[in-house]
Order: sequence, then C-alpha cells, then structure tokens
Amino acid sequence: CVVRMKIIIFLTAVFVLAECAVVFKDCGSKVGKITGIAVSGCSDSPCNLVKGKNYTVNVTFTTMEATDSAYAYVYGILDGVSVPFPLPQPDGCMSNLKCPLKSNQTYVYSATLPVLSLYPDVKLVVKWELQDAKSGGNDLFCFETPISVTG
Ligand SMILES: *[C@@H]1O[C@H](CO)[C@@H](O)[C@H](O)[C@H]1NC(C)=O
Ligand SMILES: *[C@@H]1O[C@H](CO)[C@@H](O)[C@H](O)[C@H]1NC(C)=O
Ligand SMILES: *[C@@H]1O[C@H](CO)[C@@H](O)[C@H](O)[C@H]1NC(C)=O
Repeated sequence: CVVRMKIIIFLTAVFVLAECAVVFKDCGSKVGKITGIAVSGCSDSPCNLVKGKNYTVNVTFTTMEATDSAYAYVYGILDGVSVPFPLPQPDGCMSNLKCPLKSNQTYVYSATLPVLSLYPDVKLVVKWELQDAKSGGNDLFCFETPISVTG
C-alpha cells in the first residue's frame, strides 16, 4: 500500500491495515452486505498473487435473511469473458460459516484460493459470489476485484 511516511509513523497497525484493505466493487449482493474483504499476503490493490501459493480470502458480511446453505461461484473475467474457476471447496457451510445462517448476523466467510504454477501471467478481474442455494440462488454477497498473477 502506498501510505505517506508521515502517516505510517503515527498511526496504529489497525488503521494502516484498514487503509490497505482490498478494493472491491459490489456486483449485486442481494440478501447480504459486505463489510470487508481481506486476502492473505495482499496489502495492496490490485492483489498480486504468486503462482504456486495458496491464498486465504476472507469476506466479512451481514446476512439479510436466514439460510441453510451457501455455495460459492468464482469467475475470472478477462477481456469481458468470464470463465468459471473451480474452488477446492465451493460449499460455504464448509468455509468457516456455521450453517444454518441466521438473519441480520455478521459472518466471516473464509476460503482457500490455490494459485497453480501452470497458470499464465495474467491480469484479470475476479468475481466471487456466495449464493444462498446451489445453482440459481440469491447472492449473499458478490464482489469483483482486480488481481494480477505472476511467477
Ligand atoms: C481469515 O479468517 C480466518 C478465520 O477467522 C483467520 O484465522 C485468518 O487469520 C483470516 N485471514 C485474513 C487474511 O484475514
Ligand atoms: C495448497 O493447498 C493444497 C490443498 O490443500 C495443498 O495440497 C498444497 O500443498 C498447498 N500448497 C502450498 C504451497 O501451501
Ligand atoms: C440487526 O442487528 C443490529 C445489531 O445487532 C440491531 O441493532 C438491529 O436492530 C437489527 N435489525 C433487524 C432488522 O433485526
């Protein structure tokens, strides 16, 4: 994160972290609201992800409905074309969420994102949705954030 030196000296680590939070665009969270996104090893936006590493993606969100299930759908968008990205664990209830989810509660969804060595060097937009049902549910959250993948 580019933070002015003067500011670094006087601010607490918490504030600096907050300043360096992942920048994202909400892409239609319908039955939830995102309050923050953190990616391990990413202190700047766009995140630079290194091939051969696993990253933890944490999304803090508040529910606006109760649900028994939650499924994640992830896409890489390159030149306007979105390609589904298979997550090792698409079940949100197995991603740090205690299902059933209650309404009006704040949860931290936590997923592992493996960045395989065979990926090309690329800059793209990641779209991440957590839906309240498999194939065709409403979005508990949806965000888009730019990333770059390097060797
Ligand atoms: C993500 O959340 C998990 C579980 O709450 C926590 O252990 C981990 O430190 C968090 N990681 C980041 C990058 O915030
Ligand atoms: C990433 O996670 C996968 C699956 O859990 C594991 O097999 C692999 O060893 C991990 N890689 C690194 C670099 O930690
Ligand atoms: C949601 O929770 C907050 C804090 O826990 C509370 O102040 C608020 O009244 C609740 N809203 C609804 C609609 O239940």
